[in-house]
Amino acid sequence: MERWAEGAAASPARAKAQAVATLDDMPGPSLASFAWDLFAKGGLSRLHELQLEGLHKYGPMWKASFGPILTVHVADPALIEQVLRQEGLHPMRSNLSSWKDYRKLRGHHCGLLTSEGEEWQAVRSLLGKHMLRPKAVEAYDKTLNCVVADLISKLRLCRSPQGLVTDIASEFYRFGLEGISSVLFESRIGCLDLVVPEETERFIRAINTMFVMTLLTMAMPSWLHQLCPKPWRVFCQSWDYMFEFAKDHIDRRMAAEAKKVSRGEKVKGRYLTYFLSQTGLPMKTVYSNVTELLLAGVDTISSTLSWSLYELSRHPEVQASLRQEVLTVLEGRRTPGAADVARMPLLKATVKEVLRLYPVIPANARVITERDIQVGGYLIPKNTLITLCHFATSRDPAVFQNPHEFQPRRWFRKEQAHHPYASVPFGVGKRSCIGRRIAELELYLALSRILMEFDVKPDPEGVSVKPMTRTLLVPENVINLQFIER
Ligand code: HEM
Repeated sequence: MERWAEGAAASPARAKAQAVATLDDMPGPSLASFAWDLFAKGGLSRLHELQLEGLHKYGPMWKASFGPILTVHVADPALIEQVLRQEGLHPMRSNLSSWKDYRKLRGHHCGLLTSEGEEWQAVRSLLGKHMLRPKAVEAYDKTLNCVVADLISKLRLCRSPQGLVTDIASEFYRFGLEGISSVLFESRIGCLDLVVPEETERFIRAINTMFVMTLLTMAMPSWLHQLCPKPWRVFCQSWDYMFEFAKDHIDRRMAAEAKKVSRGEKVKGRYLTYFLSQTGLPMKTVYSNVTELLLAGVDTISSTLSWSLYELSRHPEVQASLRQEVLTVLEGRRTPGAADVARMPLLKATVKEVLRLYPVIPANARVITERDIQVGGYLIPKNTLITLCHFATSRDPAVFQNPHEFQPRRWFRKEQAHHPYASVPFGVGKRSCIGRRIAELELYLALSRILMEFDVKPDPEGVSVKPMTRTLLVPENVINLQFIER
């Protein structure tokens, strides 16, 4: 039976056998029907579901216009691999990003998320030394464990007498921000205090608003920006605050350091902002990189931790095995270190499975600027935006058995080996997530500690929560969970 409704059967790539097909031959919705799906049928928050619909309807490759941008969707692991293997020396995610437009408008520099070419390569190499080397990252475990200890206290404080914590993601946003700040500044910024500083709350709100406005401003054709200027204005205001927040924290930290030096004290910073500021990069580049690292460390951690506990609360048998694994490795100790988590395979498989079901970045992108490339029998002209549909491959029944089920142990089954590009939540290759090791360490330390302290149970109301797209994939509704003392 044909797996795809229209695309593959009609695929010229298949029909023409050896001949190379062009974008004209590629299936896809008309502009009107895609716009209808986007703006009328649940809108941009359903973009991840549209990937599955596209795969079902057109097969593994289809084209669609996202506002003014024509993009080729790729929703098959082997074809995603074909794209990424041709991404060139300095891979580019997207050349039309409103994030870049904002920086140009305000005269800011680009950070690692938004810079390109040699400029990107230079900072990537510098930061890579401190963020990608296992030993360098392991050294952050004590700092991160202090943040985890505060998270545990905060969960105890904000529980109801029945142990219910409402809206766990909002606690985990603060945890994410405190965690990445501790790594960036080697100092605490009070996100997990009883009373959270207003500037911190405002920063978290600015991130949320910016993500909502990102998709909206990109999907709007330029003439609509004139008619309806609010999304772009709000988008810029959110970024303004994020840049201001980061600059303020960097300047304060640098001033404290300068004071120490003037008193003849030795300064031995072990934090990322210090490393960056010692490289001779212009301060504007330091500001933009720290802003982008702060941003990258909040929703990613919060969503993954929320979904992990949501799924574990619904799978008490997995939760019990995981707790047993942690207790066995720790042999009576209460605080795990980086070396301990290396011996916790089920913990790693759990996070892997959570990111398969809920990839924080449900669709990534590449623009290959150097040359035309061939993918799946199609010739894709250079400068075409290629959308990599990671949500679709992660939930495709042809790739993963029972794809909607939470089964961490699937990652242990050798006979069910998956294509290596079937679930790549951190991306692959030169431009992959530079924060991956820090993120994983933070998640492992937090999860193992939470499970030692609490039995995590579902919301007694039994509410189930679905994901939604807000540029990133986040929970659609609040997640409430019970944290019962052990
Ligand atoms: C669960 C947590 C996280 C996930 C799933 C995640 C995922 C990703 C993905 C998919 C990309 C794009 C990769 C590509 O284009 O191939 C990315 C890029 C990036 N991430 Fe993460 N991320 C996470 C946490 C973090 C954290 C905590 C930080 C900061 C410490 C961070 C910093 C970055 C940066 C700076 C980039 C841009 C890298 C570049 O362009 O060279 N991420 N991340």
